[in-house]
Amino acid sequence: MDVRAAIRTRRSTKAFTGQAVPRSVIEALLTDATWAPTHRMTQPWRFAVFDQASLGRLAEFLHASPHIAAVPDAVKGPAKLAKLLERLPGLGAMVLVTWVRDADPALDLEEHAAASAAVQNLLLAATAAGLGSFWSTNQTLGHPEVLAFAGADPVREGFLGALWLGHAAETPAAPPRRPLADVARFL
Ligand SMILES: Cc1cc2nc3c(=O)[nH]c(=O)nc-3n(C[C@H](O)[C@H](O)[C@H](O)COP(=O)(O)O)c2cc1C
Repeated sequence: MDVRAAIRTRRSTKAFTGQAVPRSVIEALLTDATWAPTHRMTQPWRFAVFDQASLGRLAEFLHASPHIAAVPDAVKGPAKLAKLLERLPGLGAMVLVTWVRDADPALDLEEHAAASAAVQNLLLAATAAGLGSFWSTNQTLGHPEVLAFAGADPVREGFLGALWLGHAAETPAAPPRRPLADVARFL
């Protein structure tokens, strides 16, 4: 698959078949992620990989920690957590992505940008490998206790997202993009 085809056919996919994604495939995707541009070569991205067994342990942890889902909305939180717990067993794997924060706000923006570029590399590589993917910023998965569960340092690292990966059970329609004339100026 060429890069344009990967860009155009990548879709946020939330329904998967339950088939595992092998570690060797995840390692290849993560390696592609690390070829993103990074100012000063700081390489701020960090990845915590959940296979289906550790996703099961995460689900048990979340089930036993309802206070995590109450942030930021104690009313909607439990329903969102229930939905998440319903979906997690279907995933082939999940990669929780953080970036190492910089105390300087301008540099921290750069680090966030570099890690975001790494995420897009990963999503496109997943598409080219025939996998469905979904970049979720679900705040339950970004909760400091979940980051700590994943071995991240919630003080030094920011939550960039949880990347759901697997064999897609459906092909979502492509949400239309704004016309180029709305978003680009040629000078
Ligand atoms: C940083 C980021 C966070 C996202 N978080 C969520 C999310 O929490 N829930 C969700 O339904 N979609 C989330 N999305 C996916 C977008 O809704 C999706 O990209 C958009 O609808 C376009 O669809 P496409 O990815 O299939 O092109 C996120 C996308 C980005 C870039």
